[in-house]
Amino acid sequence: MKLKIAKLPGDGIGPEVVEQAVKAVDAVCKRFGHSAEYSFAYAGACAIDRYGDAFPEESYRVCLESDAVLFGAVGDPRFDNDPSAKVRPEQGLLAMRKQLGLYANLRPVETFRSLIHKSPLKEELVDGADFLCVRELTGGMYFGEKGRSDGGDTAWDTNIYHRYEVERILKLSYEYARQRRRHLTVVDKANVLESSRLWRQIAQEMAPRYPDVETDYMYVDNAAMKLITCPKFFDVIVTENTFGDILTDEASCISGSMGLLASASVGEKTSVFEPIHGSYPQAAGKNIANPLATILSAAMMFEYAFGLIEEGKVIRKAVADSIDAGIVTEDLGGKYSTSEVGDKVAELIIEKNC
Ligand code: IPM
Ligand code: MN
Repeated sequence: MKLKIAKLPGDGIGPEVVEQAVKAVDAVCKRFGHSAEYSFAYAGACAIDRYGDAFPEESYRVCLESDAVLFGAVGDPRFDNDPSAKVRPEQGLLAMRKQLGLYANLRPVETFRSLIHKSPLKEELVDGADFLCVRELTGGMYFGEKGRSDGGDTAWDTNIYHRYEVERILKLSYEYARQRRRHLTVVDKANVLESSRLWRQIAQEMAPRYPDVETDYMYVDNAAMKLITCPKFFDVIVTENTFGDILTDEASCISGSMGLLASASVGEKTSVFEPIHGSYPQAAGKNIANPLATILSAAMMFEYAFGLIEEGKVIRKAVADSIDAGIVTEDLGGKYSTSEVGDKVAELIIEKNC
């Protein structure tokens, strides 16, 4: 199969980790007889420096003309402490999500046996935790009307949701629940927020259409607690944009390192695959960042964008074997560099031991 992949490495550690994922993709192609053709585009601070725009038209076109996008990270400390900055790297990511219609962000959380000791939680709580967070990605407060008044002393962000946005993400979540353990938890704040009451109302309307899936409802504050007191409770979690952003950072720690959490953003046009850890500028260029989340995002790319399940599995197995062999970066207690881990995973893929 011919795979047209757009590389958008972005900022910080993005380029280094994407490079390792590309090694894994090339190794899979070699093993299974596919051919990958890459294009490249800018996003984030590097795009601002070059075009004055965090997600220029040219980058959108490159994404649109590809079958999948492999994304690194955006963000740069130059912008972080400047609330008056007119363009920000993060706007590039948000613009990409909106323009590509990527309304669902899938963030699977799973544990690796040999890494359980790295989790800040007790081993017996964590061992076997395996759930999928489905975060709504193009609505809510991130995209609602925002502004300032009162000479700048009053500010607001509108958490707006429309019925069609809630219905489509719930439908997708039910479909994923059906492929898993058939348990969907709808997370909201319906005791306070009107937008959450709409979510819950629509979920209650839809639940009877999925009698084979157990649906439950949980307030986001309670869900934040339950994620660390009983992560094994969850199978599929679906929630709005802001809650999903926060809960998935929390959930990423369960497995021992944020450097392990991959994601897929899917919707109307080309899907995007990216690690959730962000640009980690302190580590940029040092060859120390953990590339596994990006490599696992490439596994999701094979599964979700190309329907190549076996290829995805082989990448996952190679990652697990590399972890078991202790070939990991320093965040996971190892002494290996980013590129060494990337080389090892690619080698394991080619070796056909998995
Ligand atoms: C994420 C990131 C982004 C978000 C930022 C960089 C805009 O934190 O993908 O979770 O908040 O969505
Ligand atoms: Mn986030």
